Amino acid sequence: MAATLSISRLLLSSPTSLSLSTATATATTSSFFPAAKSLSSKLSFTSLPIKHHPKPLKFSTAKSTISATISVGDKLPDATLSYFDPSGELQTTTISDLTKNKKAILFAVPGAFTPTCSQKHLPGFVEKSKDLKAKGVDTIACISVNDAFVMRAWKENLKVNDEVLLLSDGNGDFTRAIGAELNLSDQPVGLGVRSRRYALLAEDGVVKVLNLEEGGAFTFSGAEDILKVL
Ligand SMILES: *[C@@H]1O[C@H](CO)[C@@H](O)[C@H](O)[C@H]1NC(C)=O
Repeated sequence: MAATLSISRLLLSSPTSLSLSTATATATTSSFFPAAKSLSSKLSFTSLPIKHHPKPLKFSTAKSTISATISVGDKLPDATLSYFDPSGELQTTTISDLTKNKKAILFAVPGAFTPTCSQKHLPGFVEKSKDLKAKGVDTIACISVNDAFVMRAWKENLKVNDEVLLLSDGNGDFTRAIGAELNLSDQPVGLGVRSRRYALLAEDGVVKVLNLEEGGAFTFSGAEDILKVL
């Protein structure tokens, strides 16, 4: 029940948010992706006047399962992910390529360019990539249900080099296979079905650590959290 309530807190479902002022709508989004220090401290979701949400929060309890299909000790399902190489050619890789005989960190974000993902989650792994690799990590990959064009633009925008691979799970195949989908269709922000935020450590394709967040929250899926358990 607590888990269900947290999901309902994340899923600010009222379509009337559309009619809110830009400032409020931005605040709603930023509290949803609880990044924005300034905005979320000024205006959190709970501080929004209740009259802006005349309808009760609605979400499907049947679909809002908190646990993923995958858990520690499981072998990762295989899936194909795509990216643009430095020469601009579209390439594909597989979960198996990324993890076989390797120590790999895979982390996922609800969306490229969204506040927490851009300001904290990805930059944290870029910053700590040397430390993580010094601890024996071979692969650090960021996965998002975005297409490869968007992932390339995000990589360029954040000036990421080869510290972290930015991989597109555009059709959501891997995300679905591990049961980490996050259905944001109720949100006016237009994200559709994305991935919950997580960071996992896999050794030879077997999950050793799984830090799976409730939706877009960012509490224990950062680079520091993985560094601690290496
Ligand atoms: C996502 O949620 C919407 C309702 O908000 C529902 O219509 C849709 O079927 C859901 N999609 C998936 C893939 O669960």
